[in-house]
Amino acid sequence: MAEPLPRDFRRTTAAGRRRMLNDFRPGVDPNAFGRDEEMIELADVMVESAVGYLALPVGVAAGFLINGTRVDVPLATEEPSVIAAATYAGRIVASGGGFETTAGETVTTGQIYVEHAAPGADQRIVAAEPKLRLTVAPLLAAMEGRGGGWRGLRSERLPGSGVLRVDVDLDTRDAMGANLVNSVVEGLRPEVEVLSGGRVVMAILSNAASRRVSRAAFAIPVTLLSRAGLSGAEVARRIILANEIAIEDPQRAVTHNKGIMNGMTALALSTGNDTRALEAAVHSYASRGGTPSGGTSSDAGYRALTRYRSEERADGSSLLHGALEVPVPLGTVGGAIGIHPTARASLELLGNPDASALAGIAVCVGLAANFAALAALVTEGIQRGHMGLHAQRVAWAAGARGEERRLVAAAMSACGEYGIDAAKRALGEVRSTKPAQG
Ligand code: MEV
Repeated sequence: MAEPLPRDFRRTTAAGRRRMLNDFRPGVDPNAFGRDEEMIELADVMVESAVGYLALPVGVAAGFLINGTRVDVPLATEEPSVIAAATYAGRIVASGGGFETTAGETVTTGQIYVEHAAPGADQRIVAAEPKLRLTVAPLLAAMEGRGGGWRGLRSERLPGSGVLRVDVDLDTRDAMGANLVNSVVEGLRPEVEVLSGGRVVMAILSNAASRRVSRAAFAIPVTLLSRAGLSGAEVARRIILANEIAIEDPQRAVTHNKGIMNGMTALALSTGNDTRALEAAVHSYASRGGTPSGGTSSDAGYRALTRYRSEERADGSSLLHGALEVPVPLGTVGGAIGIHPTARASLELLGNPDASALAGIAVCVGLAANFAALAALVTEGIQRGHMGLHAQRVAWAAGARGEERRLVAAAMSACGEYGIDAAKRALGEVRSTKPAQG
């Protein structure tokens, strides 16, 4: 068993931890956790016990047209095809008129849970709203200066446990808001406890982000969709059917919605946002039950988040309509965003959007990722697009670099073999036919 790392591992600097790794874990190369000294120091500022940073690819899905404006979208992801798919969809939708999007409010709800609350506690707390608001006024002063701040308070009993829940709505403008909301509900804790006559169990924001629901939609001529020897109308029909399947079948809906998140999470990551908060909000929205607008299913449960339909026009042409509606808790200031150079550069590339505009872009990218996935799935399948990059990855793993990598991947694609042995064989052949150096 490996020797424990020294007790002061946690308390030393990132550079110190790297030295300890070097001494105590000789099989682990500290340089594999990045070499850039400023980034290593930044990692130390951002998280505890940092030893370095993870370099993930960032690509740009260029040429989205959103509410009439061209937007190049930075996407950080480890998955091949995500950026190609978003680019493909962004281009087709742009040539058909672009995306239209509307953003939800920038309001986040904090929750205080109280056990053993006395009878009438909910009314007492609601009546005390002005006083409670005053208590946290210093915490909200800067946000109010930016047009945000207190937006209201509610209180209700949970029917099962009888626990009292106090909801506080705060407009956090361009910040995602988790820090501010958590500070405010924690600041209210003592007073809520006194008013309720009970005991506060916990105080924390809700990641449901129910008031941050944003929408994106497009309508494009089906003629733009023809591929793999199929007419555009047939591809559109198949996309609509694939979406209906994902509305009906929760097993498929999970994969369908994962495809949406391929785009949305990659944008959240490139802009330094909290990807888990985004995913929690989106997946909870997919399970919210009831009849989704334009949906075909009325049962509660997890379902696809996109909607597609066709429209026949008087001139005989037809359009494919696509739409997505999801909560988008993203920010453009605060947290890692202000201090991480990649996040700052990504926002710059996006034209420095505010949080509402970024939410709108995120929904468009989610819809684009889904549209591209469905278009591939119902025609040639997704593997063909994957295999080119996959071959390059395997060639890399076999030791091929630079031009060799491309030659090995091409040889693998030519014989349809994508395993590591095929890559090593191809690499051997490439090297044996390479002219001698010098
Ligand atoms: C792969 O990352 C995403 C897809 O599986 C999404 C989908 O099936 O709709 C292709």
